[in-house]
Amino acid sequence: MQMNEQHIADSFGISPELLPHLPTLLADIWVLGSWPDRIVELLSPLELPGDSTRVLEVGCGKGAVSVPIARDLGFRVHGVDLFEPFLQEARARAAEAGVADRCTFEQADMKEVLGRGETYDVVVIAAVGHALGDTVEIVGALRQTVRPGGYMVLDDGYLSRKERVDYPGYEHCRDRETTLRELTAHGDRLVKEVVIPFTDLMAYNARNNEVIARRVTEVSLRHPELREQLLRYQQAEIEECLLLETETVAAILLLQRT
Ligand SMILES: C[S@@+](CC[C@H](N)C(=O)[O-])C[C@H]1O[C@@H](n2cnc3c(N)ncnc32)[C@H](O)[C@@H]1O
Repeated sequence: MQMNEQHIADSFGISPELLPHLPTLLADIWVLGSWPDRIVELLSPLELPGDSTRVLEVGCGKGAVSVPIARDLGFRVHGVDLFEPFLQEARARAAEAGVADRCTFEQADMKEVLGRGETYDVVVIAAVGHALGDTVEIVGALRQTVRPGGYMVLDDGYLSRKERVDYPGYEHCRDRETTLRELTAHGDRLVKEVVIPFTDLMAYNARNNEVIARRVTEVSLRHPELREQLLRYQQAEIEECLLLETETVAAILLLQRT
């Protein structure tokens, strides 16, 4: 098992044995937890030139955010993710959308890419959680690669109450007030906050849980030895959705780098 594989398995909260089946389990889901239309709406009024604007998306998954940014705004997007099967789909989706010439997708660790010293006009991190640490650390890592006056888009959210939640992967989550304070701790300006309506979150989660359940059955039939792990995965997905619906607010935050 390579280090990357363990890391990817951990980031999806699955056992490494399920990793080869992840593309099948998530085959019906292109958007992996983010709100691409809202991100495009957030970026479109900014004064950024079409085809010379350079965007970096870290943790781009299957390109569900990168491809609409290239397609609808004409920007050039470089997507980075650890999981090659997702990147293959991202490249195919970019070609299908007619923007293969404006999109590049690279298999790499976001920490390495953010430390390269390249600069972009916009950096996006969507539904990646706290792979880069707490909110101060996330913004600190992103802003290394954004030009002064450029933008950072964080599609994630915050806790709906002051109390912290005891759930793996959510250790760094804080309430709105603390999150906004942490976001601007490096001196950057909060330009806009878009809160995702609860009904949209519910509908998105319900649809995903339904298609995952079907894929769990399909993979279980082919691999009965994995049945228990697959059912645990399905259950964990349902529990995480419940946590998101009861304890968090989904929101996209747009920051301008000083
Ligand atoms: C929930 S998905 C979100 C994907 C995409 N942003 C979207 O909204 O559809 C999180 C992605 O982050 C990637 N990821 C996690 N840690 C990473 C790291 N250190 N470097 C690069 N990608 C990472 C995972 O492989 C996964 O594809």
